[in-house]
This record gives sequence, structure tokens and C-alpha cells, in this order.
Amino acid sequence: MGFPNSPEQHPPHAILFAYPTLGHVIPSVHLAIKLASCGFVITFVNTHSIHHHTSRAASDSSHPKDDIFAAVRDSGLDIRYTTVSDGLPVGFDHSLHHEQFMQSMLHVFSAHVEELVAKLVKQSVPPVTCLIADTFFVWPSMIAKKFGLLYVSFWTEPALVFSLYYHMNLLRKNGHFACQDARDDSIDYIPGVEAIHPKDMMSYLQEKDTSTVCHQIIFNAFKEVRGADFVLCNTVQELEPHTISALQAHVPFFAVGPIFPLGFTKSTVPTSLWSESDCTQWLDSKPRASVLYISFGSTVHVAKRDLLEIANGLLLTHVNFLWVLRPDVVSSEDQHPLPIGFEEAIHGRGMIIPWCSQIEVLTHSAIGGFLTHCGWNSILESIWSEVPLLCFPLLTDQFTNRKLVVDDWKIGINLGNACGLVKKEEVSQNVNRLMDEKMGAEFKSAVRDMKKTLRHALMTNGSSKKNMECFVRDLKTKVSTSHARSTSNGHSVIDSTLKQASWNLFFS
Ligand code: UDX
Repeated sequence: MGFPNSPEQHPPHAILFAYPTLGHVIPSVHLAIKLASCGFVITFVNTHSIHHHTSRAASDSSHPKDDIFAAVRDSGLDIRYTTVSDGLPVGFDHSLHHEQFMQSMLHVFSAHVEELVAKLVKQSVPPVTCLIADTFFVWPSMIAKKFGLLYVSFWTEPALVFSLYYHMNLLRKNGHFACQDARDDSIDYIPGVEAIHPKDMMSYLQEKDTSTVCHQIIFNAFKEVRGADFVLCNTVQELEPHTISALQAHVPFFAVGPIFPLGFTKSTVPTSLWSESDCTQWLDSKPRASVLYISFGSTVHVAKRDLLEIANGLLLTHVNFLWVLRPDVVSSEDQHPLPIGFEEAIHGRGMIIPWCSQIEVLTHSAIGGFLTHCGWNSILESIWSEVPLLCFPLLTDQFTNRKLVVDDWKIGINLGNACGLVKKEEVSQNVNRLMDEKMGAEFKSAVRDMKKTLRHALMTNGSSKKNMECFVRDLKTKVSTSHARSTSNGHSVIDSTLKQASWNLFFS
């Protein structure tokens, strides 16, 4: 491919690092495609481990195994693909040994990243101009600075979650976080955020012990993001207008969601870690809006006690359901956690599968509700498919996402008491409530309205479309001014004075 000689005329070339869990890889892949459609050259980086699992899962499909972006490149987009070690052997069980995986993310991964970035910066044509990295990484600002690149932080969760982490210092000062007897009254001082109860904060902000490896990652990541030149967020301005405008006073924050595969059809880039069961025939045999889809996402675990209450609750209903039970959903050491005789008892109305193409399932007309752990991708996909939600948050942002779904947007209901307390009777009552044509009607209507908001955001003159255009324009301007500055200075340091000022403010 030929490129012009003058660096200012080159298309922006970004190295994009996806956080190595599926809930982050999926939106990162589709962000890469979106940016390439806006004229970027992208070098997309997965870890060896994610690559190993996706290529194994794709081995029985027509997807190419070694270069997951091959089909996209055939369509004319310049997305290159490479992999990097996460510091652990490829066969390492991340699900069983999550703590060690996080330790590696905190202490080891950056060395491998730095080595790869050095190589790509040296070799690439057109030259690399920016680093796009998931906000949860603990090294992007440091590495971007070292190689004279702009740093674009990619936030895959709602702006509300970003804002609460961003203002951890305020929560700490006010006694709502990181103290022995944390206050349990409402939090009403986070800029742009309506009063929120501590139980609706992310799990990590509700925990007493803040010395864990996850906390160290969060603290470091949110120091790093203060050095970001831009933040791209997989949300929609109209969904969280006040939170977003308040954040924009601190950081160039662009809501560019929802980030989905083109046309919301099965992705041409393989992203599944497990092979997908085809449920179309079974769904075709069920009446319209009669099936409850159940999935707890790709990563988090459900306590066996809760899983059994949910299973027994489903037995008390007559509702059809399709349940994705990942083999490690309780633990990779307990791969058959359902009650004995369960599969026989649900014969004809229930189907259990290990994994599927969720967007294909959600858009099937037989689906009438979604029992979810409230992962942000699942919520956006459910809204797009006009399917109301039954919420059972388990970890991290899922509690905060639940608040948005149930309390603010009213597109779903709670499954029951929090994890560890849920009872089969409330499971059956709430499943019946959501799936009943009359009782569930208000949620269906609210979710239909919200879908319109999402669809408008992506249209010409829609907020996400305009925000993306604005981001691309501002980034190009910044690339050319920083190039001009680096050539006149003889070295490339981008806005280091500004960034230093913002760091000083954070620690003051
Ligand atoms: C993680 C966090 O747990 C979540 O809270 C955060 O918001 C994003 O990162 P995960 O738990 O995997 O994500 O949940 P979610 O965000 O819902 O993402 C799951 C993805 O896997 C979705 O895109 C969904 O379509 C896909 N999926 C899930 C499948 O393709 N098939 C399935 O069978 C289940």
C-alpha cells in the first residue's frame, strides 16, 4: 500500500490493545472496525491466550484462524493483527486462577507491551501516531509518553461507572470509600451524578479491603487515564447527558456507542472463546416473545447456591427458557452444577447450551426477556434487540449498570435479593412478571423507546456519529500539531506540561 511522503498527510495509525477478557475484546474489535471505516490504519493486539481460544473456537467454522481480521481487510479496511504475551503460559486457566492473571496484568504485561510497541513504532508504515488502550490497563499513558504517541483511552462501560472511579478521591474524602466504617447514606457530590446509594456503586468501591490486586489495578488505571488525550466511551450521550458533560470539564470524553458489529449481525471477526451452539431451530419452534434468555456473560462466576435457586425457581414457572451455562460458570472444577434431574424436568421448554451467538439469539422473535448479570455489552445488545431485562448483578460495574436499567430507565426489574440471598420463589415470581404479556408490557414499551434513542445516535446528525467525527477531527489536529512541535523541538513529547498539571491536581 502506498502512503504520501509528508507525515501530516498520513492516515492516523493506531495500535489498539484490547483488555484480555471477552467483554472488553468484543467492543474493542468493533471499535477498530469503526475507526478503520473513518480512515484510520489500526494494528489490533490480542494476547496470545485470547488468540489461542478464539482460533480454537473458530476451528469448526469458516472463519480464518490466524488472522481474525482477514475478512475485514478483504473489504478494504486497513486493520492489521498481532499478538502479545500476557506473561502467563497460553494454557493457563485464567478462570480458575484469576488472582494470578490480575497480578500478571498489574506487574508483568507492560514489559511485553513495551517491547511490541517499540517494534511496531520502528517498523510501521504509515508511522504509528497513537495508542488506543482499554482504560483498565495500568501502563498506557507511560508507554504513550515514552514513544511520543497520543493516548486514546477506551472505556467499555457506562459513563456513570467511569465517573465514580474518576472521582474516587471525593468518595474517599467524604468517607464513602476506603475507610473502616464507610458511610451508607446517599452520595450527592459527584459532578453530574444524581444522588446514588453506595450499594449501587461498583463492587470494588463497596469493599472494605482495598489492598487487593483488583484495587491496585483500578487505582493505577485511573491515574493513567488522567494522562489520556481523549477518552472514547461505549455509551450514548442521551442516556447519560449530565454525567458526560460533567466529565468533559476534566477530560475530552466522547460518547460513541453503541459499538456493535456492522448491521448487528454475527461478526465477521471471530471473537467467541467457545464454539457456538446453533439454537435457531429450537427457537423457531417457540411462540413469539415466549422464551427467557439467560446468560451471565463471559467471565464472572455464580455461586452454586444461587445457581440452584435460579434453576429451582425456573422449575416453578411454565416459561420457556434458553440458558447459556458456561462450563466454568460456577468453577472450571465443577462443570455440571445443575440439580440432578433438571434437564429431564425441563424437557421441551428449556434448553441448556455452553455458548451461543448472543446477538443472533436476542434478535430472534421468540425471545421475550433476558435474565442477565448486567454486563454492559449484554445491556446494550438487549436494548438494541428490544428485549426487557431481569437483573442479577454479580460483580464490578454490574451493580451500577443494574441501577441504570431498573431505577433510571425502567427497562427491567430485579431478579430478587442480592447474590447469596436470592430465593427460588422470588425467581419464579419475577420471571413470570417479566414474561407475562400484560405485566411485562411497560418494560417492553420503555425498551422500545430506548432502542430509538440508540438508533438515532448512530444516524447522520446523531450524537454518537457527530462525536466520532469530532474525535477524529480533534485527533488529526493534535497529531499534526504534536508532529510540528516535535520537529521544532527535536523530540516528541506530547502536551507533557498539561498532563503533568492534571496529575498534580489529582494528587494534591
Ligand atoms: C465484562 C464484565 O463482567 C462486565 O460487567 C463489563 O461491563 C464488561 O466486561 P462480561 O461479563 O463478559 O463482561 O459481560 P458482557 O459485557 O455482557 O459481555 C459479554 C459478551 O459476550 C456480549 O457481547 C455477548 O454478546 C457475548 N456472549 C455472551 C456471546 O456471544 N455468547 C454467549 O453465549 C454469551
